[in-house]
Amino acid sequence: MADRMQAGAPEVSDGLVLFGGNGDLALRMLFPSLCFLEAEGLLPRGMPILAVGRSALDDDAFRALVREALGKRAPEAAAAAESLLARTHYSAVDVTHINEIERIGARMGELNIIRPLYYLSVSPSLYSPICEGLLAAQLAGEGARVVMEKPIGKDLASSRVINDQVQAAFSEERIFRIDHYLGKETVQNLIALRFANTLFEPLWNNLTIDHVQITIAETQGVGDRWPYYDEYGAMGDMVQNHMMQLLCLVAMEPPSDLAPDSVRNEKVKVLRSLRPIGRAEVAHNVVRGQYTKGVVGGEQVAGYLEEKGSDSETETFVAIQAHIDNWRWAGVPFYLRTGKRLPDRDTEIFIQFKGVPHSIFAGESREDLVPNQLLIRLQPEEDIVLRLMNQRPGLSLGGMRLESLPLSLSLKNVHKTPARRRIAYERLILDALSGDSTLFVRRDEVEKAWEWVDGVNDAWRRAGQPPRPYAAGSWGPGGAFALIEREGRAWHED
Ligand code: BG6
Repeated sequence: MADRMQAGAPEVSDGLVLFGGNGDLALRMLFPSLCFLEAEGLLPRGMPILAVGRSALDDDAFRALVREALGKRAPEAAAAAESLLARTHYSAVDVTHINEIERIGARMGELNIIRPLYYLSVSPSLYSPICEGLLAAQLAGEGARVVMEKPIGKDLASSRVINDQVQAAFSEERIFRIDHYLGKETVQNLIALRFANTLFEPLWNNLTIDHVQITIAETQGVGDRWPYYDEYGAMGDMVQNHMMQLLCLVAMEPPSDLAPDSVRNEKVKVLRSLRPIGRAEVAHNVVRGQYTKGVVGGEQVAGYLEEKGSDSETETFVAIQAHIDNWRWAGVPFYLRTGKRLPDRDTEIFIQFKGVPHSIFAGESREDLVPNQLLIRLQPEEDIVLRLMNQRPGLSLGGMRLESLPLSLSLKNVHKTPARRRIAYERLILDALSGDSTLFVRRDEVEKAWEWVDGVNDAWRRAGQPPRPYAAGSWGPGGAFALIEREGRAWHED
């Protein structure tokens, strides 16, 4: 993001050390991202990759594994895949034994890695042992950086423990906490839309905006991720990180520039202004659900409890009415909604403007008049749609007829290249390698988000209300509709 060529810019890493190198995320997302970056000539020339995992594999066996994954995920980049594989290596190491980590150091020496980017694509319970091991083996020196995947902790207290342990080895500016939503093209586009246009900023406040909706809807269920998911629920898995980041980017004040701390300072201010939801408010402002069996995409699917066969009060759906207590947003509700096994895959930010203060239109045309809306869609397609009122062509006895028409900026149609959708990790890997942390999450953001989420979770616990059931393939429990409709509003639908 920031100009990498400027004087004093951080040095680019000269090697990637990927912990969890043969894990699901690495094979499904990270290697394909690296392969596409290689195809576009964006990786540091000749940069070695050292994958670290527990399985006893040699370099060739590991390369075969990655080759197979790339064949599925990046078939169009076969030549880049081979050049990437030629400098990909593997070390079988049990990272829970500090002395084994020394072997990683020896391998890094052979590969000439002096300024490593360590990528922790492993269970968060291994973050501390790995960082301790790297420190003890003197592999965490000034040139080294570390990337951590979410979730960082299960609540504020546990996230502090992890952050303390990682910070014992790496200073904050060398820690890159990933939220892959920040790597999505449309999420960055939100920054461009807000701050590269004069049009929106004067309207971006409680004088003009009626309310904001953020929806992250998924059709998939929890399935074999059950043991992980059941500990976090929708609040820990989606709201604490992805949802909070989207909320921050929509609501933050204009930063003075795109330097990492300028942006992150503004995001933290939003998190600080989020009104806590306590015991007295939780029943009114929050709806929690858990899917039961149903039909999604024409297929019969099991309920959450049947997937594992044990009882649980973990939520797979949540709808929240949140408020940001500052001058810009006072009185503007932010409706947040996310869930598994919903009818569509749909991630969007929907801004509903207020109606015109006085209608000069009479009769039927008065009824045609609807407020402007701005839709920023991240998934399934990246799209930005501004709905404006127009005169409907033709004559009618009732006078002028009006209609709301979309002004659409479909990224797929505007930019023919790249033809494929980028994987969010491409941007993030590139930025981490060049030491640009603008799109990474700072410790205080993680902690402020947990503080708010912990408040909601705690209020639930004390209220003793189990999540409400909803059939897979529906839009969540009925209460989620009541949450918004009782105020004369409705969830956005296409
Ligand atoms: C992950 C969550 O962080 O994000 C998953 O752990 C979720 O539960 C996923 O499915 C959604 O990401 P995306 O990019 O597919 O919307």
